[in-house]
Amino acid sequence: MAQVKLQNINKVYKNGFHAVRDFCLDIKEGEFMVLVGPSGCAKSTTLRMIAGLESISSGELHIGDKLCNDAAPKDRGIAMVFQNYALYPHMTVRQNLAFGLETRKKPKDVIERRVNEAAELLEITDLLDRKPGQMSGGQCQRVALGRAMVRKPEVFLFDEPLSNLDAKLRVSMRMRISRLHEQLKADGRPATMVYVTHDQVEAMTMGDRICVMNKGEIMQVDTPLNLYHKPANRFVAEFIGSPNMNIMEGMLSQNDNGELAVVLGKHRVALPASMQAGLVNYVGKPIAFGLRPEHIDILDEQTGLDATITEVEEMGPEAFVHLNFHGYSLICKRVNPESPLRRNSEHQISFNMDKCHIFDKETGLNISLPTC
Ligand SMILES: Nc1ncnc2c1ncn2[C@@H]1O[C@H](COP(=O)(O)OP(=O)(O)O)[C@@H](O)[C@H]1O
Ligand SMILES: [Mg+2]
Repeated sequence: MAQVKLQNINKVYKNGFHAVRDFCLDIKEGEFMVLVGPSGCAKSTTLRMIAGLESISSGELHIGDKLCNDAAPKDRGIAMVFQNYALYPHMTVRQNLAFGLETRKKPKDVIERRVNEAAELLEITDLLDRKPGQMSGGQCQRVALGRAMVRKPEVFLFDEPLSNLDAKLRVSMRMRISRLHEQLKADGRPATMVYVTHDQVEAMTMGDRICVMNKGEIMQVDTPLNLYHKPANRFVAEFIGSPNMNIMEGMLSQNDNGELAVVLGKHRVALPASMQAGLVNYVGKPIAFGLRPEHIDILDEQTGLDATITEVEEMGPEAFVHLNFHGYSLICKRVNPESPLRRNSEHQISFNMDKCHIFDKETGLNISLPTC
């Protein structure tokens, strides 16, 4: 039983800085939960409170059924993997892997078996007699992961473990960690994993669920696809997805027939029928209109909204086209573009309004989500 439950957790540092505010999160047993957010939003502080490396100012932390606010790190059933590997430089890989078990006075044969098992799974058997100085960053990080694994913790905590690796290695380590999570589940000993990153791609590809944080507060907790398609607020909408969601500040208006539209400068763009009823109270109020790059089309015909191309980034199978739409800077994603587009050319564009989001300009809340 190793669910991790954070109830109204606060962290106020000694200098009075309130780093984490009323943090409530239920991480299920065997779940892969990612904490993601910009640098400084208190991801590490939160993880370190779970690990017992940082004190909790108020609130309750349960790991399994135990209240762990004051439990020593070694009694929490956790193992942590850090960005800087934290291997002992004077020890071989084998000694690094075995060290934590030796200090816990595990029998020699158990230690040997676990070290060999972990080494095999992580494909570092060939490296067992090397020292950290004789290995690459990716190899060191596999050892660091192995050192956490041999302890057979119920909860793995990762703090940006891949940030020091180059892009290609990051992808392969990402898959390795995901596979390890699946493997442990298949073996009937599921491990709860809490993974901190500032990289939204890492979060999207690894998490069963993702907790998006900003300034020490939770913005939304949901599955990767729900965060993408149903962001609860403007912060999540802009943080998840690359290139970023386009945001245009405007107003909501209603015509004589009672139909709602978004007013962007001198343009009125009708809202889909599904959004009409829910937004009627916002008529005349400032809003932010959000549309993902793949939901803007560049048209061949002359019947859309007029825009000027300011930049074209050709990526091969797709192109990111930067547009100036009456002073709004937009990015549009074109898949398999047949004809290249030129900078400074005038085009007609259209918005896929069924996919748009409307945010309250003041609170940032997504007011266009269907209420159920
Ligand atoms: N010991 C400390 N004393 C005071 N403020 C701190 C301390 N450690 C971190 N902070 C502040 O708390 C905030 C969150 O830090 P951190 O948890 O490291 O963020 P993240 O991991 O998301 O980048 C930052 O503003 C940071 O400056
Ligand atoms: Mg950090």
